[in-house]
Amino acid sequence: MRVAIASDHGGFDQKGEIASYMERELSCDVVDLGPDTGDSVDYPDYAVKVAHAVASGEADFGVLICGTGIGMALTADKVPGVRASSVTSAPFAELFRQHNNGNVVCLSGRFVSVEDNEAIVKAFLTTDFEGGRHERRVAKIMAVDEE
Ligand code: RB5
Repeated sequence: MRVAIASDHGGFDQKGEIASYMERELSCDVVDLGPDTGDSVDYPDYAVKVAHAVASGEADFGVLICGTGIGMALTADKVPGVRASSVTSAPFAELFRQHNNGNVVCLSGRFVSVEDNEAIVKAFLTTDFEGGRHERRVAKIMAVDEE
């Protein structure tokens, strides 16, 4: 499984640890789309890198980390084909996959510990979409991309 990851300065301190966790514990092929330092950057610039990697099929899933996860989610979700959300607990990560078929998870580097974010990422990457009645609802979300 190929996973694209990026952050801004608010998520930079956790990015390396979470990338290593995904490689080590979840056997992911991780592509780090930056930044390379913790200097101040604009989160939309990094959100679109990961969103485009997922939308193009270059990556199966995306992980974004900023201070809250909110700015990353707002930006990434605007890219057609992407279903992005800020997620702050493992149960929500499971539901994000089961019900919403989420493909980009956005984490808080300032309000959620790295251990809790690893549990979120694990749930996100190991839970399948349930399909069924959720298929129709997700199709309706994606139809908005065509408007
Ligand atoms: C940067 O200070 C902060 O606004 C950003 O990391 C994020 O929390 C935005 O949603």
